[in-house]
Amino acid sequence: MQIVRESMALHEALKRLRADGERLALVPTMGALHDGHLALVAEARRRADKVLATIFVNPTQFNDPADLRRYPRTEAEDIARLERAECDLVWLPSVGNIYPDGFATTVSVRGITERWEGEHRPGHFDGVATVVAKLLLAAMPDIAIFGEKDWQQLAVIRRMSLDLGLPVEIVGHETVREADGLAMSSRNALLSSAERAQAPRLHSALTLASSRIGGGENVDAALDAARNAIAAAGFGRIDYFAYVDGETLEPLSERSAGGRLVAAAFLGKIRLIDNVRVD
Ligand code: PAF
Repeated sequence: MQIVRESMALHEALKRLRADGERLALVPTMGALHDGHLALVAEARRRADKVLATIFVNPTQFNDPADLRRYPRTEAEDIARLERAECDLVWLPSVGNIYPDGFATTVSVRGITERWEGEHRPGHFDGVATVVAKLLLAAMPDIAIFGEKDWQQLAVIRRMSLDLGLPVEIVGHETVREADGLAMSSRNALLSSAERAQAPRLHSALTLASSRIGGGENVDAALDAARNAIAAAGFGRIDYFAYVDGETLEPLSERSAGGRLVAAAFLGKIRLIDNVRVD
C-alpha cells in the first residue's frame, strides 16, 4: 500500500495505479477508523480494481472548535488497518494542501442542507461539500463510497455531485452496527463506560418508532414516544428526532414510501446521530 501526503505525489501515484485504465474507488474518511470504515473499503474492493482511501480531519466542517480538538486522531493504527484491508493507496493531505493560503471558494448546497444537521451545525455542510468536491476532483474516481449513518450528508453529496456534473457514482453503504445496535462512529470512543451503555437506546428508539410508523400509527405520537424514551434513557439535548423524506430530507407527517427516521442527541458532551428506514 502506498502512502502519499502532497497532491503532486497523489497525481503521480494515481497515474501509475490506473496505467491500464483500472477502475478506481474512493473512500473518504476523517481517520479514527473502525469496522464501519473497513466495510466501506471492502465494498470498494468489490466494486473497483483499485482503492484509494483519504484521511483528513476537515476543520471547516466542525462548527464547534472543542469537537475538532477532541476528535480522535490515530494515524498509525489507521494506516495499519487500511493495509490489512488491502487498500492500494492512502492520501493524507495537510490542511494547507486542501486549503491553500487565501482559500476563497466554498461549495454550498441549498435546500437539503437547511434542516437537521444543517440547522444545528451552521456551516457544517459547506465544509463537507467543499472538501468532498476537492477530494473527488483531485482523485477523479469512478465511484466514491460513503456510510449511510450520515444520511443527510450522503444526500447532500449526491445532490452536489449531480449539480456539478462530477463523473462519479456516489454509493451509500449500510450503517455498520455494534452487536447492541449502536451505529459505529469514531466519536463512540469518546463515550464514558456509563454513556456507552446508554448509547444503543438511540437505535432502539429509532427502530421502535420505525415499526410504529410502518405499522400505520400516528407519526407525531410515535415521534413523541421516541423522544420521551431517549430522554428517559439518559440522553440530554435532543437536536432532532424526525420522520423525513429520504431524498429531500423534508419532514413527513404521514407514512410515505422512502420515509426515514433521523435523529441527533447528546449523551454528556458527545453528540450521536443515527437513522433508520421505515418500511
Ligand atoms: O463522513 C466523514 O467522515 C466526513 O464527513 C467526510 C465525508 C470524509 C468529509 O470530510
